Amino acid sequence: MADSEVIAGLDIGTDRIRVLVAEYDIRGKLVVSGWGESRSEGMRKGIVVNIEAAREAVLKAVEAAEHEAGRTVTELWTALGGASVDSLNSRGVVAVSGKNREIGEADVERVLDAARAVVIPMDRDILHVLPQEYIIDDQGGVRNPMDMIGVRLEAEVHIVTASVSAIKNIEKAIERADYKLGDVALGSLASARALLNDDEKEMGVLVIDIGASSTDFILVHGGAPRVTGSVPVGGAQASSDLSIVLNTSLDSAERIKCESGCCWDALADAEEPVIIPGVGGRPPVPVPVTELCRILQPRMEEIFRIVRKKIEKTSGNAGISAGVVLTGGGALLPGVADVASGVFNQSVRIGNPRSSVEWPEACRDSRWSTAAGLILLGDAVKSGGNNGENTAFTEESVNPLKGLMKWLGEFF
Ligand SMILES: Nc1ncnc2c1ncn2[C@@H]1O[C@H](COP(=O)(O)OP(=O)(O)OP(=O)(O)O)[C@@H](O)[C@H]1O
Ligand SMILES: [Mg+2]
Repeated sequence: MADSEVIAGLDIGTDRIRVLVAEYDIRGKLVVSGWGESRSEGMRKGIVVNIEAAREAVLKAVEAAEHEAGRTVTELWTALGGASVDSLNSRGVVAVSGKNREIGEADVERVLDAARAVVIPMDRDILHVLPQEYIIDDQGGVRNPMDMIGVRLEAEVHIVTASVSAIKNIEKAIERADYKLGDVALGSLASARALLNDDEKEMGVLVIDIGASSTDFILVHGGAPRVTGSVPVGGAQASSDLSIVLNTSLDSAERIKCESGCCWDALADAEEPVIIPGVGGRPPVPVPVTELCRILQPRMEEIFRIVRKKIEKTSGNAGISAGVVLTGGGALLPGVADVASGVFNQSVRIGNPRSSVEWPEACRDSRWSTAAGLILLGDAVKSGGNNGENTAFTEESVNPLKGLMKWLGEFF
């Protein structure tokens, strides 16, 4: 099999770099054949700040995945999130051009062009233009306007922009590691693809990816992304809180949080104490898990409150009747779903990559959602947009920074 038929998804996080490699078996079924992980270096808040260090960390993770897959990867699909991305909703209007007023491809292209014609700062570029709905002669809610008859065609879209330098620096780190940047997707969009089913997307669902340095979110409603954004707080701040209050090193605090942490009192084992190593020759101190809850809960609650506030500002809370899905490493903290449920007043589940593809045993938890989503997006592109499920982006949502791919079909 040619290496060009290999799909590799690279999730460059602030804490970890994760890579999944997939290929097609003889029946054309997508099979994940390798995975790799490395401790992230040269990144701060989702942005490359040291290209050489990032190159090495990327290389380590990709080589591990290549080794397991027995394949050479040439191109890496990657994700971007955190403060380097921004978004807005926009609308475009055109007159239908065809003789008999039948809407054709050219009309759809023109209306999306009109919708994307917004003023964007010089240092940013458009990452995605995601159609939400089309309106034909004031008749809204149209998903696919092709071949319909009308005079006036409008499109409502969600535009995602990214810092040009953030992308260029990722590209540089990848190229120095001797790979090619395939394309860049919004991280939460990739995660959503790996996590959500059609009913959730239709009814309205909020996906929250709790990373180390940032918490990214995407609200999907009526089958399309409505709000996307990011909060510059994540699991690292929770660990830092523990380290300050318990007077222990950051490394110990991080380990204690991951091994014994809990942020919901009712789930904490009141009997079993956690041993906190002392710093500077101080003796270790036993602390009850309920004490960890007391420190971690307010931080997680704060993260969710900020997300809620940001969403309310844009769309109100009405659009998430299918509840909230938590993902990313921070979703592994016991009790986090209870905290989120209290803040959003919604049912909350932890999102692990969907089982439509068999993920390696080690990659079935919420930390792998973004990398898994990148593989699914790559698959949607390679298989022309439909592999038995609703698919990736429209052609117009191609990342214009690269312009390499044609993502056909509808995103959701
Ligand atoms: N078992 C666990 N319990 C609690 N927290 C955990 C656990 N495992 C990982 N985490 C936390 O998840 C966070 C890392 O999540 P993730 O790997 O998704 O981040 P990242 O993608 O590298 O970072 P970012 O998305 O912010 O760039 C860390 O703060 C870590 O402490
Ligand atoms: Mg992440």
